[in-house]
Amino acid sequence: MRSAKDFFVPLAVGAPAPVREIPARPSRAIHFFDPSNEKMAAKIPQMVGTVDVLLGNLEDAVKADNKVAAREGLIRIGQETANLGGDSGTTQLWTRINSLDSPWVLDDLTALVPAIGDKLDVIMVPKVQGAEDIHYIDRILAQLEAKAGITRPILVHAILETARGVNNIEEICAASPRMQGLSLGPADLAADRRMKTTRVGGGHPGYLVRQDPPKDALGVSQIDASRAIYQQDLWHYTISRMVDACAANGIYPYYGPFGDIADVVACEDQFRNAFLLGCVGTWSLHPKQIAIANRVFSPSVEDIRHARLVVAAMGDGTGAVMLDGKMEDDASLKQCLVLVRLAEQLAAIDPELKATYDAIELDN
Ligand code: GLV
Ligand code: MG
Repeated sequence: MRSAKDFFVPLAVGAPAPVREIPARPSRAIHFFDPSNEKMAAKIPQMVGTVDVLLGNLEDAVKADNKVAAREGLIRIGQETANLGGDSGTTQLWTRINSLDSPWVLDDLTALVPAIGDKLDVIMVPKVQGAEDIHYIDRILAQLEAKAGITRPILVHAILETARGVNNIEEICAASPRMQGLSLGPADLAADRRMKTTRVGGGHPGYLVRQDPPKDALGVSQIDASRAIYQQDLWHYTISRMVDACAANGIYPYYGPFGDIADVVACEDQFRNAFLLGCVGTWSLHPKQIAIANRVFSPSVEDIRHARLVVAAMGDGTGAVMLDGKMEDDASLKQCLVLVRLAEQLAAIDPELKATYDAIELDN
């Protein structure tokens, strides 16, 4: 086993020093685009500054015949688009490489890192099964960074989309100082688990609980009577595991794709559940999902107002106070600080949101 100290020694001579803390950069929406699709690629420059992350997708949804065009398109976009990716980028540049069992992934890495390694903030790795997959990527990235003279390590994000990956979630999160976060991959995960849903993310009307039947005067259950049903969330367990594993390792959890683009209402519900449970962002598969994600993954004005009131009332942060008839103490202060700090990070990159938060008044 590697000594804990070795985690902060580069894995190749000349590679940049591993980070000690993952930067908390806002990433409410990770907007996927296919760099081999010229129409989509042409829109990328105008999207810079309107979304937290633009992700050039090389994996699923890109046809085998277009894999090389997608890789080359992403390199062109990375090299030519102003303010995209790297330390000075107003929008981060991520990619999703092909899976480790594909014939394309090695070429993805050896082409991307020398060409745009200084622009790529995060590499998303699909179908991660265990720590060994992250170790493999970690070592190759160090070698390629050293060779290319890259001075800032490229971070790694794993998609949770195999049953084995879910079983190994803690070791995946802890496998490298490069680990930036995890996303839920509900389509592949459903298939791998042999779940019986054909949807990409979201709920399912068959996954429900039903109110108990009423009884008649003789105490006989009326099972055919009308009863309330409550649809349950198929993804609650996995998202909860992701949130705990990420928090315990100082990295960030994300919802994944919501495939029913037309159903913006259910999409917003799923995103909000993920936000409330602890996720910091989600994927966007269509421009209209960017607006939903930006709204949902930014704390509300009411929450920030309440949080600031608690922070102001709690003084040195110890003891307890009563506000609007509710008890607040050291622990609820910490909850409020999570929201206040997130709002500060988002306000730093989103002037409209900053103006909204700045206008909050506390005196009533
Ligand atoms: C995403 O990649 C998924 O499989 O849901
Ligand atoms: Mg997938």
